Amino acid sequence: MPRSPIKRPPASLDLSQVLRDVDELPKKLSSSSLFGNSAPLEIEIGSGKGLFMTTASAANPGHNFLGIEIMAKYAAHSAGRLLRSRIDTQDSKPNAIMVAGNAEPLFQDRIDPGSLEAVHVYFPDPWWKKRHRKRRVVNEKSIRNISRVLRPGGRLHFWTDVLDYFENTVEMIAELAPEFGVPIPEEEAAANHDLDYRTHFERRSRQHQIPVYRVRYERH
Ligand SMILES: C[S@@+](CC[C@H](N)C(=O)[O-])C[C@H]1O[C@@H](n2cnc3c(N)ncnc32)[C@H](O)[C@@H]1O
Repeated sequence: MPRSPIKRPPASLDLSQVLRDVDELPKKLSSSSLFGNSAPLEIEIGSGKGLFMTTASAANPGHNFLGIEIMAKYAAHSAGRLLRSRIDTQDSKPNAIMVAGNAEPLFQDRIDPGSLEAVHVYFPDPWWKKRHRKRRVVNEKSIRNISRVLRPGGRLHFWTDVLDYFENTVEMIAELAPEFGVPIPEEEAAANHDLDYRTHFERRSRQHQIPVYRVRYERH
C-alpha cells in the first residue's frame, strides 16, 4: 500500500526544541545529554508521521522520548506535531525530540549499555525479498544492540502487519537474545477516534481489516 503524501511543517514554526539533525546530537544519547534530566528514556525507531511520539510523550510526562526517523521530511512532520501538541497543552519543557537520521549507527555505539527504559518498533518497512532481509530495521545486529542498551526489565515493543517479519523476529530473538525472555502478546486497543491507534500504520492496517501482530519483551 503506498504511503499517503506528507507536508513539511510551515517555515514559521520554530522546531529547534523538538527536531535535531543527527550531526547535532551529543556524542552519547541519554536523558541527561538530550533533556537535561534523569527521567527514563524511551526510543522509537522509524516514527513515520509521529502519532506514537505525540500520544506517548503526552501520556507519560515523567519519561523522555526520542524518535529516530531516517526520512527528514517525516522527522520534521513528527516534530511539527510534537510542537503543536505542546503549544496546545501549554507545556514549556519538551519530553520528546525527533532526530532525522538512521537509527542503526546510533544504537551501535552512541547509547550506554543498560540505559534505556524501552525501544519501540512499529510497522517497520517489510523488505519482502529474502536477500533484502538484512536491510530490515530488526535484524541480527539490531537485536543485539537493543538488548545491550535496555536496562534489566526494559521493554522492546514490536508490532507489524507482516506475518513473515513477525515470525522471523520472534525466532531470531529466541535464538540470539534469550535474555529477552518470552514474547508477551499485546492487546488491540479500542479505537473510537483516529488518534486512539498506536501509530498511523496501525490505523491503516486495522481500517483495511489487515491483521496486526503485536508483541512486547521485558528484558531480564
Ligand atoms: C512503514 S513506516 C512506519 C511508520 C510508523 N512507525 C507507523 O507505524 O506509522 C517505517 C518508517 O521507518 C523509517 N525507517 C526505516 N529505516 C529506518 C532507520 N534505519 N532509522 C530510522 N528510521 C527508519 C521509514 O522512513 C518509515 O518512516
